[in-house]
Amino acid sequence: MLYVPLPGVVVAVADRPAYRGGMTEFVDVRNMVRWMLESGVEALIARMSAYVEDDFRRWEVFDKTPRVASHTPYGVIELMPTSDYETYTFKYVNGHPSNPARGFQTVTAFGVLAEVHNGYPVLLAEMTLLTALRTAATSAMAARHLARPDATRMALIGAGSQAEFQALAFRGALGIEELAVWDTDPDAVAKLERNLAPLGFRVEHAASGREAVRGADVVTTCTADKTQARVLLDEWIEPGMHLNAIGGDCPGKTELDPAILERADVFVEYTPQTRVEGEIQQLSPDYAVTELWEVVAGRRPGRASDGQVTVFDSVGFAIEDFSALRFLRDEVAGTSYTTQLDLVAGPDDPKDLFGLVAAMAPVG
Ligand SMILES: NC(=O)c1ccc[n+]([C@@H]2O[C@H](COP(=O)([O-])OP(=O)(O)OC[C@H]3O[C@@H](n4cnc5c(N)ncnc54)[C@H](O)[C@@H]3O)[C@@H](O)[C@H]2O)c1
Repeated sequence: MLYVPLPGVVVAVADRPAYRGGMTEFVDVRNMVRWMLESGVEALIARMSAYVEDDFRRWEVFDKTPRVASHTPYGVIELMPTSDYETYTFKYVNGHPSNPARGFQTVTAFGVLAEVHNGYPVLLAEMTLLTALRTAATSAMAARHLARPDATRMALIGAGSQAEFQALAFRGALGIEELAVWDTDPDAVAKLERNLAPLGFRVEHAASGREAVRGADVVTTCTADKTQARVLLDEWIEPGMHLNAIGGDCPGKTELDPAILERADVFVEYTPQTRVEGEIQQLSPDYAVTELWEVVAGRRPGRASDGQVTVFDSVGFAIEDFSALRFLRDEVAGTSYTTQLDLVAGPDDPKDLFGLVAAMAPVG
């Protein structure tokens, strides 16, 4: 069957068996960890990155909307839906920068993948770990198009939950093994070194953000603070650097000195969302940016010269979670990494939902 959701967009929808369903496959935290251990985190990020790239290449097919955010003084809770008209996904995710001080994580998430032909959810997954993989996979994809291919040294500003995943992504994408790390919490840097040194990374403890950035080819900022912070200043930025800015992802929560953005070339995911949530919220609404999918699809140039300063103003977009869930399903469906969840009520007669309740009533 052919379906035309938008003018010029034709989607081939396979005819499906009359599956009534009931069971949904579930990937819990234990199985997610087992999958990551047995497959290798670095290898998974690299393979997932190819899925993200494939979906960015067919960007125009997707049903896109900025995420739905519920802001409070504690943080934000967001819903991130999208669909390619064959598969639908959404993610529930929070962002609470003050959580670690209370023993909670800044970011947690779970997500659902559903079949569009009948609307049934077929996969439910933990996504706290999966989000770290997908954010790293997306950064890697951006870096393949925007960083200098001869990059060898990365500054990491922020050594929290996302940091190790980012380091593994950049080794996969560019071969970077030399890290200069700055975090206001020295314990976080020690933790990062404990995790990454055994994997072959050289980790330098920088005394400041400025020191970390000096001589770096790539700078990744992944700090969490609900303010307009300045973790990178314009005078620290050297020609040819690629800035992978992932921590500024909410209204009123940014990391970069706006002067950097004014002289760099800025690449974004989905402009309507990034104008509100990204680093560019600090600039006028008509500041020119390039959407990354245009680069991936070969319509606009990525890095054009060795001296150019490029910024990936990452906020995280629903299509990346779609790619992550699509990849997860391809890897784990039907394996021992999933369990069956009785999530959808499926009466024998689809009109007799009440009958299902009556059938379960105790006899006598
Ligand atoms: N763009 C995306 O797709 C995406 C995805 C996931 C997370 N994020 C964002 O990335 C950021 C990091 O997430 P996380 O899960 O690693 O958070 P986290 O709380 O685990 O780690 C953040 C680290 O930043 C450090 N920090 C805070 N302010 C700092 C400063 N001024 N200078 C140096 N270090 C500082 C903290 O001490 C902490 O170690 C968050 O802001 C989160 O919202 C973005």
